[in-house]
Amino acid sequence: MDTLGLFMLLILLFFQWTPALAAEEITWTYSGLVGQSEWSEYFPDCGGTSQSPVDVMTTQTKYDPSLIPVTPLGYSQHGNQPFTMYNNGHTVVIELPEWMGLGGLPWFFTAIQMHLHWGNDGPSPGGSEHTINGLSADAELHVVHYNSELYPNMSAAMTQKDGLAVLGILIVTGEETNPAFNNILNYLSRIRHADQKAFIPAFDVQSLLPEDLGRYYRYNGSLTTPPCHQSVIWTLFHKRVQISVAQLLKLEKILYSSKAEETDRMLLQDNYRATQPLNHRVIFTSFSAESGKELSSGEVTAIVIGVMCGCVGLAVIVRFIVKTIRTKDSGKEKEEKQDMAMNSTSEAEKKEESLLSPQSVP
Ligand SMILES: *[C@@H]1O[C@H](CO)[C@@H](O)[C@H](O)[C@H]1NC(C)=O
Ligand SMILES: *[C@@H]1O[C@H](CO)[C@@H](O)[C@H](O)[C@H]1NC(C)=O
Repeated sequence: MDTLGLFMLLILLFFQWTPALAAEEITWTYSGLVGQSEWSEYFPDCGGTSQSPVDVMTTQTKYDPSLIPVTPLGYSQHGNQPFTMYNNGHTVVIELPEWMGLGGLPWFFTAIQMHLHWGNDGPSPGGSEHTINGLSADAELHVVHYNSELYPNMSAAMTQKDGLAVLGILIVTGEETNPAFNNILNYLSRIRHADQKAFIPAFDVQSLLPEDLGRYYRYNGSLTTPPCHQSVIWTLFHKRVQISVAQLLKLEKILYSSKAEETDRMLLQDNYRATQPLNHRVIFTSFSAESGKELSSGEVTAIVIGVMCGCVGLAVIVRFIVKTIRTKDSGKEKEEKQDMAMNSTSEAEKKEESLLSPQSVP
């Protein structure tokens, strides 16, 4: 067979084999051959109109007073059984025990797993999946639950609308170490390569969440990785959690997306998807713009001064009104007297006048 024939055969084989590959077997990545912009060719849902993540433009959000705080159930009752943690080549996944769940939504949701998304090069732009007014955080934690009231398991729920509920926690860096995150970060070196798995001591999952679970953004969206099913009720907390720069660097520099047997090692970095168009979706907030604001000491001073001025002003107005009423009342009394004794009153008035303006006396 000549070279051309071999080439033709290879092409033929390539075109025969490509469609035969099941979607699950396709190795997708965040950049490269099957990068984000190609996902929809292999996973049609990734090209849908209700995709995640999104940018939250706070001026376009809508306050929904019916949104009550979400309630993590059993998050702190971790028990003695270790958690399973693994590197799937895309992120670090920690499996959650089945008794953990989520309340405060129209159905009960059972916890499945949590995982993280991050960037590279420490606290630099990028890292989180969701952004607020175009600004990203340094990383993002997702706690995934399925609707166990309506569906028997995760695989059945993940293709259904309202099938999943994911908590999104934006992570920023600061001075202090966040000890809760060390329950994950301290064990990353055991799962450096894709497909590696480790057992880690169970820990209080709620300690990873912000304290304020009452203020959040809510919208309908999707899984942020293929197959991108549009089945997620998203809860993105308003309050962000803080880890140290050293902790962020551990997350960014320890894991590989490549398998142990692969000679070309690839650091697992920048595993966040670009924000997707909202397409007429509304992002609801559980808090109104005013209550969502955190006041600086300057603002507090201004409010105190404002309230004091207001009180003084009110006192002045009240005094003025009281005075006016009194004057009117005495005026009325005068009128009554006038009715009774017109002449004498007018004479008295004349006297008053002459008293008030002595110059006018001839
Ligand atoms: C999930 O539930 C569906 C529907 O009952 C069932 O067919 C499927 O085998 C279950 N999958 C797993 C992984 O248990
Ligand atoms: C999500 O979709 C459901 C069903 O279409 C709808 O009832 C619900 O209001 C939506 N929720 C949000 C936050 O938009």
